[in-house]
Amino acid sequence: MKNFYITTPIYYVNDIPHIGHAYTTIAADVAARFKRLDGYKVFFLTGTDEHGQKVQQAAKDLNVTPQQHVDKLHQRFKELWVKLNISNSDFIRTTEERHKRLVCDILQKLHDKDEIYRDSYEGWYCTPCERFWTEKDLQEGNCPDCRRKVEKIKEHNYFFRMGKYQDWLIKKIKSDPHFILPASRRNEVLGFLEKPLEDLCISRPKSRLPWGIPLPFDEAYVTYVWFDALINYISIHGSFDDILASGFWPADHNMVGKDILTTHAVYWSTMLKAIGLEPPKNIFAHGWWTVNGQKMSKSLHNVVEPNQLADQFGVDVIRYFLLREVPFGLDGDFSHKALIRRLNSDLANNLGNLLNRTINMMKKYFNGTIPLSATTGEEDIALQNKAQEVINEVRKLYDELAFNKILQKIWELVDTTNQYIDKTGPWSLAKTDEGKERLKTVMYNSAESLRVLGVLLFPFMPKSCESLMQQLGVEKTIEEQGMTSLDNWGGLTTGTQTQKAKQLFPRIEDKQAAKILAELEAPKETTKDDTGQITIDEFMKVDLRTGKILEAEKVKKSKKLVQLKVDIGTETRQILAGIAESFEAEDLIGRTVIIVANLKPAKLMGIESQGMLLAANNDGSLLLAGFDQEPGLGIQVR
Ligand code: MSP
Repeated sequence: MKNFYITTPIYYVNDIPHIGHAYTTIAADVAARFKRLDGYKVFFLTGTDEHGQKVQQAAKDLNVTPQQHVDKLHQRFKELWVKLNISNSDFIRTTEERHKRLVCDILQKLHDKDEIYRDSYEGWYCTPCERFWTEKDLQEGNCPDCRRKVEKIKEHNYFFRMGKYQDWLIKKIKSDPHFILPASRRNEVLGFLEKPLEDLCISRPKSRLPWGIPLPFDEAYVTYVWFDALINYISIHGSFDDILASGFWPADHNMVGKDILTTHAVYWSTMLKAIGLEPPKNIFAHGWWTVNGQKMSKSLHNVVEPNQLADQFGVDVIRYFLLREVPFGLDGDFSHKALIRRLNSDLANNLGNLLNRTINMMKKYFNGTIPLSATTGEEDIALQNKAQEVINEVRKLYDELAFNKILQKIWELVDTTNQYIDKTGPWSLAKTDEGKERLKTVMYNSAESLRVLGVLLFPFMPKSCESLMQQLGVEKTIEEQGMTSLDNWGGLTTGTQTQKAKQLFPRIEDKQAAKILAELEAPKETTKDDTGQITIDEFMKVDLRTGKILEAEKVKKSKKLVQLKVDIGTETRQILAGIAESFEAEDLIGRTVIIVANLKPAKLMGIESQGMLLAANNDGSLLLAGFDQEPGLGIQVR
């Protein structure tokens, strides 16, 4: 079995996760899931970057230790990845022993080989970026990255002899076109390397910055946060010997954003060279997302939070949108409007309808059983050929991580299958005996094409594709079927009982869209500080009360909503709860629940909801919050 190793950058633990972070992680997840389907043994790594000035400062402000601070904050990333259905093999934190051990071993080894030396240093230091700059790097006297003020600092430090690897690196980049992608970014790195490459300052005096990994050969210093962080990609495998034995180095892709390409292409590659390890096979730099044309920033209150987005539109819709909308490698602009447009057209109209009408016709004409494919006509062969062409092309496009082209290609098969149904006209065929024979083949092929689509789209939209497969009656999971199940047309077994049609992606109608947009894109004031903490006064504003469910009824045309009547002692509230996928409506009657009683009423699918239930999302299945003894009704919960 061949191995495949893919990584995301490790995220600064202080940041609130936003769509930029979600973007890289979803992209890496899609590639990892595809390679698993294609028979590879996959290792997929993500994690958090937990040392440095900003963490130290934030912990001090909160009066906690840096370790306590990062132990709490890294959870936000871990939880988000569970929510976004990310299939990472491990999660590395740079404060873990396993990581610190290898960083120290590497530092010692490089120091012993005289690859690291001590020298005095004078430079311009940008505290927010934790980076030194030379006079000529500065822009109008400010940091060239963040444009903030820099300070002149003179101190003794340790340096890695990075400069001596300049010629080797230029040669490597020029001789291996796959090493840095996309090509435009590769040229930027080569441009950067036209200037003499200086040695890299890899230490910070402990007196100024104690929160870091102490240098093993000089306790008065800690390791520069980038030198520490980059090592995560190999420390996950253990010691030097373990790295070589793991079969997962060199990585197939170190996936990064364009802003951190230099640190990877230059620092990381030369560090590896000095250590005696191969550079990664590929460093891929993707572009940046703006929001409605503006840079995402806390001060503009326009940070798009993936948690909120997933609750509003569904995880798979977000995963699809981010990778379909913009070519990976180019910058893109996020807007909720564009997201709703793609959801309605690509997902609900094209793919969702194809599944819906196929399942419904199968029910109508063959009692929901997959018929025997009996005849083979020109249209059938054209459909099969198209499927084969798409499968081959998709496999190739994964080598370039060309996600949007992959989706475009897959949609060619969606469209071809829809056209196949329109051209063959099952509704007319059903009218004659001869037609009915032909209809068997048409329905078989439509369903088989959907199976192919389910496998191909699984890496992008895992949950929806599993649901598609269940509707087709296929018992094997998509991972069990794998890409080999697409080698030959005809994976569906005649006689299989298909399931009831379920809408995969409900359309968002114009009126509803207008309302969502007005709410989502209105400027927000946030009371959360950087750590996500609120004051007790802020918490007390939420009026939580006990209630009993008197009536429960599933909302027609909605996958998730149940309409409830809840008695809260003083009155009965009508509440719409998004719990239909986890509960049968009748089982809810009589349950004691906790509701948010002072939530502004809102209309969902035209029905007013006057509150909200508290529930925990336990790996996709919802559990209602309750009590260990039966409380009275309308009691405040604190
Ligand atoms: N901790 C370093 C990486 C160390 S890797 C050894 C770091 N962290 S970060 O949290 O600031 O950024 C992580 C990733 O998020 C980067 O790849 C960055 O490009 C990406 N993004 C941050 N904002 C983004 C957008 N607005 N759009 C797309 N990606 C963006 O850098």
